[in-house]
Amino acid sequence: MSWHTKPSATTRVPKSTTPFVTAAHAARWTTEILPKYAVKHGALMPILHEVQHEHRHIPLQAMVEIAAFLEIHPSQVFDTVSFYEEFHTEKVGKCVIGVCQSIACEVCNHKEILDRVRTRLGIEPHETTADGKFTLLTMECLGSCDTAPVALFGETLHENLTVAKLDALLDEAVANVSGSH
Ligand code: FES
Repeated sequence: MSWHTKPSATTRVPKSTTPFVTAAHAARWTTEILPKYAVKHGALMPILHEVQHEHRHIPLQAMVEIAAFLEIHPSQVFDTVSFYEEFHTEKVGKCVIGVCQSIACEVCNHKEILDRVRTRLGIEPHETTADGKFTLLTMECLGSCDTAPVALFGETLHENLTVAKLDALLDEAVANVSGSH
């Protein structure tokens, strides 16, 4: 992930008429998530995961609403969202493919894997296909250097990749994503 300087002081939060944190969310989080943590803001990570999963990104308005729920400043939520690679502020595709580009994968020809995904999907890293089905990411070490090259398809890690293996995974992902709503 690269660093971006953002005009935070003047950023306007686009408003949606539908809240991201509904009364139902707040009630369930209060009974199911908050009791697991000694302090209220300890629940930030599981809540962010849930919102990311539900909306395929965490918009600014959601961060403001989550902050209000947890009684913390919105900047604390933004700091957390921007720190972790798995959270996105822009909507990602139904299937997110993350190709590891760190050293072990790099020496095991990760470029061949990355180029194959780029060619098959017609997108560059950190882009989403026009139909909203796929997002391609390059990622730092995924913790499986001994089985390089590796890539994530959603939350599933695929190891010892070859172009043939990748093609089969892409075929399967295309079929799955096309069949989902
Ligand atoms: S460098 Fe790719 S998994 Fe560690």
